[in-house]
Amino acid sequence: MKCPKIAVSVLSADFSKLGEEIEALNKKGADMLHLDIMDGHYVPNLSFGMPIVQAVSKLSSLPLDAHLMVTNPEDYVDSFAKLGVQYFSFHQETVFHSHRLVQRIKQLGMKAGIALNPATPLCSMDEILSELDFVLIMSVNPGYSGQSFISSSLDKVRRLKEMISFRNLDTLIEVDGGVTASNAGDLVGAGADILVSASYVFSHVDYEDAIKQLKSQ
Ligand code: DX5
Ligand code: ZN
Repeated sequence: MKCPKIAVSVLSADFSKLGEEIEALNKKGADMLHLDIMDGHYVPNLSFGMPIVQAVSKLSSLPLDAHLMVTNPEDYVDSFAKLGVQYFSFHQETVFHSHRLVQRIKQLGMKAGIALNPATPLCSMDEILSELDFVLIMSVNPGYSGQSFISSSLDKVRRLKEMISFRNLDTLIEVDGGVTASNAGDLVGAGADILVSASYVFSHVDYEDAIKQLKSQ
């Protein structure tokens, strides 16, 4: 089976030693660093903003994958690009003109992705799929790490993969929420290219081993 890329979410890192955590992830087999940006409006939680993103971008040797869970993602696209973020995703419900935002993200040299909540249907981004570099399938309701995987997400990934293959696109599928070694294999089999993990990786003393487990399913 193909080997997924692992995007480790710093949301579950120990922020009192963020520098050490990022240094460790640089060397432990993570492929990307996932930045969960939450505004307390779109999701019922606050995470972190520009000062932390800036600090992480200085320390990380890995591509940065920003996941915007905010009501106004268009306000941050330029500053994230300046900080060297390479993947930028926003939630379909937060933007009136998603086509315009996708073009702006790509114009700034970043990969553009749309995130779909568990209750948001695939057909909501049907018209824009061919413009996207990736689709982020939320397999938990956004807002917190450490939640359980919603099992219907697996079929959603499978159906999205069919849409992508049918149209001969090379859009990547990223899956975010409740990913563990027990569901990683099924997700990759269904078509996932990138698996996000916060709590699974950070609950292990040995991050490298946890990342290996996610990759080797
Ligand atoms: C949830 C975030 C996820 C979260 C994943 O809103 O988008 O990226 O950090 O956490 P785990 O892997 O613990 O489900
Ligand atoms: Zn996320």
